[in-house]
Amino acid sequence: MPDAALALPRLIAHRGLSARAPENTLAAVRAAHAVGVTWVELDVQLLGDGTPVIWHDAGLRRCSDRRGRLADLDLAAARRLDAGGWFGEAFRGEPMATLEAMLALLDALDMGVNLELKVNRGRDPRALVEAAVPAVMAALPPSRRLLSSFNDAALAHARTLAGPEALSLGVLVEGVGRDWRRRCEAVTACSVHADWKRLKAARAREVSEAGYRLLCYTANDPAAFAPRWEWGVEAVISDDPTRFMP
Ligand code: G3P
Ligand code: MG
Repeated sequence: MPDAALALPRLIAHRGLSARAPENTLAAVRAAHAVGVTWVELDVQLLGDGTPVIWHDAGLRRCSDRRGRLADLDLAAARRLDAGGWFGEAFRGEPMATLEAMLALLDALDMGVNLELKVNRGRDPRALVEAAVPAVMAALPPSRRLLSSFNDAALAHARTLAGPEALSLGVLVEGVGRDWRRRCEAVTACSVHADWKRLKAARAREVSEAGYRLLCYTANDPAAFAPRWEWGVEAVISDDPTRFMP
């Protein structure tokens, strides 16, 4: 179902401006804002103590100075972790962002968020939704929030919690399969978010002509991406949206 309340831009910074700052941090969102990008895609998960944080992986190793699993970390331990030094010296000391701190920053900067409910293996989609969805709805207006997930249980629970109207939901897919409309209708989603490399023209047109918003992740080559705008793609999620700017 299309959602007129949603003010989606053409360019969305993937995990913040992750080409230029450590992904999913406050610094990456500030960097996106600094180059004139108004929306970011971010991943949300729960720490072991139930605190929602902005983090992509199940593990800590790739994007911090710690090893181990996010699910084994509590907030006190998360606050001691360095989520910036792996990217570059200039970012050493950057904290892991809590959802609460991130929402406060997005609000202060007047930015929108495509928040991905990231359900890694073995994690509970319902607990994530119950912690994250009310917080997002309280912090940002409907025009500046879109929740998406690969996980249909998370989307269904978000819809149950939010009610029929107030929350824009997006279905994440790799290729757009034959079941895209059934998945959208099951949760009253307004958008389909597809891997740009796997998107086919006919299926893209089917989605956009049905009135659904079509977004693509994660494209960093504007020339290669270009034909997709004519297929009805409304927004591109990019590690460096500045490449798509005129
Ligand atoms: O939301 C689009 C994209 O972020 C999905 O893949 O692995 O980058 O979270 P991933
Ligand atoms: Mg994501």
